[in-house]
This record gives sequence, C-alpha cells and structure tokens, in this order.
Amino acid sequence: MGIFYTEPGQKKRAELLARTLEVPIITDSAGLDIVLTITRDRLSLSIPGSSAPHALVYAEFVKGPAGYRRKRSSREMLLRAIGLRRDQQLSVLDATGGLGKDSFLMAGSGCTMHVLERNPVVAALLQDGLRRASEHTDTREIAARITFSAMDAIQYLRGIAGTENRFDVVYLDPMYPARNKSRLVKKEMQMLQELIGHEPDTEQLLNTALAAAGKRVVVKRPRTAPSLGDIAPSHSIKGKTTRFDVYMI
Ligand SMILES: C[S@@+](CC[C@H](N)C(=O)[O-])C[C@H]1O[C@@H](n2cnc3c(N)ncnc32)[C@H](O)[C@@H]1O
Repeated sequence: MGIFYTEPGQKKRAELLARTLEVPIITDSAGLDIVLTITRDRLSLSIPGSSAPHALVYAEFVKGPAGYRRKRSSREMLLRAIGLRRDQQLSVLDATGGLGKDSFLMAGSGCTMHVLERNPVVAALLQDGLRRASEHTDTREIAARITFSAMDAIQYLRGIAGTENRFDVVYLDPMYPARNKSRLVKKEMQMLQELIGHEPDTEQLLNTALAAAGKRVVVKRPRTAPSLGDIAPSHSIKGKTTRFDVYMI
C-alpha cells in the first residue's frame, strides 16, 4: 500500500496519513496492491490489480447519489427499520460505518449518529468525506449530527453494555460475501470486499449489539440471505434486493 499526492500543497496531509496508517508516500504506483491518492478535492482508494483497476472509491456526501439523497424506497425501508417516527429524535450507533451512506441518510432524517469503523483505510476515507460535508453549506447541518470513532465495534459495545450510555438503535451492515462477480455487486462494494476480506466475527457483533442496544438492533442483509448467526429477528422489512432484520429489545 502507498500514499500518492498530486500537488505540493497536499504534502502535510499525505505525511500525516502516512504516519497514521504506517505506509510510505510514493511517487509511482507500479506494483502496488492498494493506492490512496490525495488531491485538493478528496482522498480516494484504488486497487490497481483488481477487476476494476481504474475505479476510485471515496466517501461523498455533497455531490452525486449520496446517502441522504438515495432512492426513496430504500430510504423509507431503512427509516422504518430503525423505528423513526415524525418529530422524533433517535440516537443511533452505526457499528459498521463503511463509506457512511446509511449513516448520512439517518443523520439527514434527524438521527444523532455515532459511527464506528475499524478498517483504518475505510476510516480515513470516511473521515475525509465527513470533513468535506462539514465544510459545505448544503450538508454542514447533517454532518454536525455525526460523530466518528475509528475503532472496533465489539470492543466499543462491550464498553457501554450495562451502562446508562445506551443508543436507541444499533445498526449493523456487515460485509456479505459476493457469490460471484455479478454486475449486481457494485464496483465500490467489490473493492471494499477486496480490501477488507472475510469478517469472521459478525455473529459475535450481533450478540454484543443485542446486549448493549436500548430499543432495537437492525441488521442489513441481502434479501435472500440467512439471518446473521441464524438468530431469528423479531420481524423483517424486505425490499427488492435488501432486507432489514429488526431485533426488538
Ligand atoms: C458493508 S460495509 C458498511 C456500508 C455502510 N452501511 C454504508 O452505507 O456505506 C461494512 C463495514 O463495516 C466495517 N466493520 C465490520 N465489522 C466491524 C466492527 N466489528 N467494528 C467496526 N467496523 C466494522 C467493515 O470494515 C466495513 O467497512
């Protein structure tokens, strides 16, 4: 892995990130498996040897099909799954932050979010997206409802279990292994899967969340996938490709 920056003005940012991730700054990406590029606009990830070698992955909340502007149907399903009612404020722990789309959608609907991400590269991408969102007038207010910690959620949830420090909802969207390189698996998700690999502790994550949540735990799954750890939910909300399993506390 290496960090590449495109303008001299980005040198300090590159050095800071290189120290945090303990990877070198590079001037040539040849032969590298993972490249992080810093431009004036953003931090992005590319995986030169992947099936999508030229694709760039980055967190984006200001432009494009960002989380809070996503299709109405998927937005409504998620908000129904977390039990958000009109004029109600929920505190939500997004234990598997990823690139923050779901979190931004929930924050955009008024939820107070605490987002966790344990993969240091994904955490850096998410922090960069949130920083840009906090600097833009359209998204500043939403970004202000999000706090972020780069850490493991099982460890965090164990720390708050049995304390007063409970979130109304704990939200989980762990990686689900793609069955094939189908067109349905978006390039972005494919690249994150290559970066993160297999997650062996998702059942443990659900059990820890169930012990720590205030009102409910919500798990996002592919529509036809078995429930996480074969633990039956209280009910499910199903869309065309996605399902939300809801565990009432
Ligand atoms: C499918 S992605 C989440 C996508 C996210 N919901 C979104 O809307 O962008 C899953 C992410 O959860 C993270 N993750 C998995 N287990 C975790 C844990 N125990 N603690 C923190 N992060 C975790 C992975 O590193 C990965 O980035």
